[in-house]
Amino acid sequence: MSKPVYVLGGPNLNLLGSREPEIYGRDTLEDIHQRLRTLAGSTPLELRQTNHEGMLVDWLHEAQAQGARAVLLNAAAYTHTSIALLDAIKAITVPVIEVHLSDPKTREAFRHLSYVGMAAAATVEGLGPQSYLVALEKVARGEV
Ligand code: DQA
Repeated sequence: MSKPVYVLGGPNLNLLGSREPEIYGRDTLEDIHQRLRTLAGSTPLELRQTNHEGMLVDWLHEAQAQGARAVLLNAAAYTHTSIALLDAIKAITVPVIEVHLSDPKTREAFRHLSYVGMAAAATVEGLGPQSYLVALEKVARGEV
């Protein structure tokens, strides 16, 4: 069995579909996960979402312990606040791709800083759900 790819989502992403659809679209997180499953084929995926910062830290550690191939991380608002996530990404050797539905760099100034991006192997943002698929393709092509 090939190494798993972890797809981790942070706070409020459980409300995708109804949450600010003019920014994030109408797809639910489950819709996005289903598209990822289809694209992944036989590559095992760990598809998870939490509203809790420390849980994301624990899952990054788990990805390392499980020998994951890569992590796709949409840390949502913790992207812009969490030194704990920055440290966790630096503490593991599994490549982490930062993913966002929107393009935070074109939004409010407080979203321009990304602690996740300081340690991520790559960033894919601003493509809606397609950001996740492009990130998974980067993994499949061995770009990270
Ligand atoms: C987001 C962008 C973040 O700034 C925001 O806090 C989110 C979602 C995105 O996917 O576009 O919750 O990560």
